[in-house]
Amino acid sequence: MKGIILAGGKGTRLYPMTKSVSKQLLPLYDKPMIYYPLSVLLLAEIKEILIISTPDDIDDYKKLLGDGSNIGVKFTYAIQEKPKGLADAFIIGEKFIGKDNVCLILGDNIFYGSNLSEILANAQKNKGATIFACTVKDPKSFGVIELDKNRNIISIEEKPQNPKSNLAIPGLYFYDNTVIEKAKNVKPSPRGEIEITAINEAYLKENNLNVSMMGRGIAWLDTGTPQNLLKAAEFVEAIQSRQGYYISCIEEIAWRKKFISNEKLKEIGEQLKMTDYGKYLLSLLEEE
Ligand code: G1P
Repeated sequence: MKGIILAGGKGTRLYPMTKSVSKQLLPLYDKPMIYYPLSVLLLAEIKEILIISTPDDIDDYKKLLGDGSNIGVKFTYAIQEKPKGLADAFIIGEKFIGKDNVCLILGDNIFYGSNLSEILANAQKNKGATIFACTVKDPKSFGVIELDKNRNIISIEEKPQNPKSNLAIPGLYFYDNTVIEKAKNVKPSPRGEIEITAINEAYLKENNLNVSMMGRGIAWLDTGTPQNLLKAAEFVEAIQSRQGYYISCIEEIAWRKKFISNEKLKEIGEQLKMTDYGKYLLSLLEEE
């Protein structure tokens, strides 16, 4: 399984914050936003990861994340010239994906919850495609899924005016290798994008689309507006300062998953020891 993080777009809803900085590099409390989706891929034990961003921003991601060897994974970078839609990630990433399956996560989607690892592991066992469903109060700005009593999918719609349910589809998708061909066959929508919803509909037609519920034990947070960004940051701060455990600390996950040794964790912790983040990394070794 390969992983793709899509960190493109102009982030216009966050202007002027995002006029000169890529949205997914903005701080979410104490880490760059992209750490949060990256941590989901690490929890899914995906170690080959493609990061896609704009021609203007890609170098900033390289500067932040490097080649991945620091956390025992491999990062590759690619440019999306224009925001052509989420499904474009599979066309840009065709060579990178090769003959493998692929998981796509959007660079601004935040997930947190105790059984996340289990949900991710189960999704990888399914055939075809797996998408997720999260209950939200106002699903109009998302992909919306309608299910029958037996949790069979009746419909999926992109940003419907009159949503048929409260189940939004978050920006995390697991696909088999046929996603590349499917992406190539998608026609642009009225907003000029090749939509991920069209890919999901293609899997649904083949009877190959699975849906996994993310229940109330999982928090899926939005960062689309200044208010939501602040709320998400406050959520992270509240949990971290109460529990003492960090959310989406990529070095910690890499260490717990044994992608890196105690020595490597110590080295990174020492470099950052003037910060709480570095002190936290060093404290993990004491806990051993
Ligand atoms: C995209 C998808 C939508 C999904 C959402 C999750 O929307 O098109 O189906 O629910 O991500 O964040 P966009 O970010 O392009 O508005």
